[in-house]
Amino acid sequence: QTADSLYIINNFAKNFFTNALMNTDDGRAIALSYLKERGFRDDFIEKFQIGYNPDARDQLTKALIANQFNKELLPKTGLVSVRNGDELVDNYRGRIIFPIHNNTGKIIGFGARVIGKSDRGPKYINTPENEIYVKSKILYGAYQARTAIDKADECLLVEGYTDVVSLHQAGIENVVASGGTSLTTDQLRLIKKYTNNLTIIYDGDNAGVKAALRGLDMALEESLNVRLVLIPDNEDPDSYVNKVGAKAFNEFVAASKKDFIIFQLEVMLQEAGNDVNKKSTVVNQVAETLSRINKAEDFTKQQDYIRQCAALLKIDETGLTNLVNKYK
Ligand code: UTP
Ligand code: MN
Ligand code: MN
Ligand code: MN
Ligand code: MN
Repeated sequence: QTADSLYIINNFAKNFFTNALMNTDDGRAIALSYLKERGFRDDFIEKFQIGYNPDARDQLTKALIANQFNKELLPKTGLVSVRNGDELVDNYRGRIIFPIHNNTGKIIGFGARVIGKSDRGPKYINTPENEIYVKSKILYGAYQARTAIDKADECLLVEGYTDVVSLHQAGIENVVASGGTSLTTDQLRLIKKYTNNLTIIYDGDNAGVKAALRGLDMALEESLNVRLVLIPDNEDPDSYVNKVGAKAFNEFVAASKKDFIIFQLEVMLQEAGNDVNKKSTVVNQVAETLSRINKAEDFTKQQDYIRQCAALLKIDETGLTNLVNKYK
């Protein structure tokens, strides 16, 4: 009941936003020009139903009320906020709007970005948790990506909304975004419905690497094959593909895709250097990671990793196998 009403309100708001972006003077002058400057094209703005919330007190709110939507429900959508106890005002004033679809194409919520480098609040405001917007289960772009994921038998995972849209423009359609938060088991299970092959494409900075590493153990437990690409030079996939072009981006991804377990081991080995104690900690950590590959159907895969890791660690394969079994 409530869920149905929320879908209907969101759909109305999406139409209001896309119209404001494309068919109003302010929308075109302020918002569309910003999107164009960043390299976004009309056909992809349409494909992702990107819009604009006018920079006014309550244009959307008034339209919603005029269309007799339940006033009590409006704040729940995050589109409207309550001021001074009972006044309703637009919550995403002056922001670019990215609708977020569920896997049947219905709109469950929105990401709302300030235009340019503004200090008016956070860069993005997202829909609050409600009956249909459950943050831990959302993968932005999944609706637009699912046939491509199926075809490629691979899912690319990036951080943000703009990364997804820019990669589509570059012809890469098997891509979803986690929304900048740490990956959840529910998100991994959604990916698993489409493919076993996950490629994480994060910023190459420390935060990006740490965020990626945090997802690894969970992903292994879900029996996903995880590979990693780190984007260089403080870029993200959106800025990097716009900098180097689609062809070079594709070549970079293909050439730098790294198996995640091996990547993790190399990072740890580098940190340990020649320190014997640290190296023994690394051996134990690797064994623990490998022990998470524990489904019967993954046995060969685990054997294969044990072989590769033992070689990198310069230790005996049987010894590593025993240690892995100890962690199970
Ligand atoms: P980023 O800061 O990397 O933003 O956050 P971005 O995606 O590159 O956006 P642009 O290119 O500057 O427009 C990555 C993701 O984290 C979430 C959003 O989902 C964003 O896409 N995020 C970020 C928020 O939810 N709130 C914020 O204030 C910032
Ligand atoms: Mn970031
Ligand atoms: Mn970063
Ligand atoms: Mn980013
Ligand atoms: Mn970005």
